[in-house]
Amino acid sequence: MSATVRKLPPANANPDWTIDQAWDRYTPAEHDVWLTLYERQSKLLPGRACDAFLNGLDALDLRRGGIPDFRRINVELNRLTGWSVVAVPGLVPDDVFFEHLANRRFPAGQFIRRPDELDYLEEPDIFHDVFGHVPMLTDPAFADYMAAYGRGGLRALHLKHLGHLARLYWYTVEFGLMQTAQGLRIYGAGIVSSRAESMFALDDRSPNRLGFDLERVMRTPYRIDDFQQVYFVIPSLEDLLAATLQDFGPIYERLAVASDIPIEAIIPADKVLTRGTQAYAREQAAQ
Ligand code: PHE
Ligand code: FE
Repeated sequence: MSATVRKLPPANANPDWTIDQAWDRYTPAEHDVWLTLYERQSKLLPGRACDAFLNGLDALDLRRGGIPDFRRINVELNRLTGWSVVAVPGLVPDDVFFEHLANRRFPAGQFIRRPDELDYLEEPDIFHDVFGHVPMLTDPAFADYMAAYGRGGLRALHLKHLGHLARLYWYTVEFGLMQTAQGLRIYGAGIVSSRAESMFALDDRSPNRLGFDLERVMRTPYRIDDFQQVYFVIPSLEDLLAATLQDFGPIYERLAVASDIPIEAIIPADKVLTRGTQAYAREQAAQ
């Protein structure tokens, strides 16, 4: 997700904040970090990630040659859904981020984490952004959803409801789960790019797992510092897209006077898949 960190792009960046990926300048050690992370996740994710994600990994052949060259993956990505990946220095301002999404460009961090940061880092790097987000962009419904989100983001900025819309991004694009005939599956980039949360999100007894409800999601705060306390489960990517095609104007009006729902709460209207123990969150809070 984006954040307003500064108003002007750094000197080496274009006015739209994009930079050259400079693929030829990654070192062998940097390619090794990618390969290590790739091996870990690709062993873990079959049977955990949804088919759209796994098919996307194959379609883009993201393993070949370490850190992917955007010039290469963009050929296939563009052919499949009209999307492309562009390199940015790091977090970009909200309006810049949404403008890219609305035009089917996904801004990805150019840098890769250090070998001692394999499990956690604060700013999204190329592994999170490309391994986590880009495979889903090969799915037509998800591709349309992300572009619509970009347009919706520009509108939410204008209407001063970005806080509500950001929760939708968080609980779908970053931390979304999906119900399938084979069982619960991950599609959120924040989960598939994290070894520990790929297990926690599906298997741990601590978090709540609730059926996706657009307005409910927008009333729910989220955690940026640890595993989620609640995950929302969509029936399919097509259902997610359909639920967001409506005009959010009236929803924002209702949300302006509605209260937030505490992160660990279950309300009567919820469709409960798992009532979590919240034991993990409680233990962390006690430390
Ligand atoms: N339909 C939303 C609106 O009217 C836009 C949107 C689409 C937002 C998809 C998020 C995801 O603002
Ligand atoms: Fe992300």
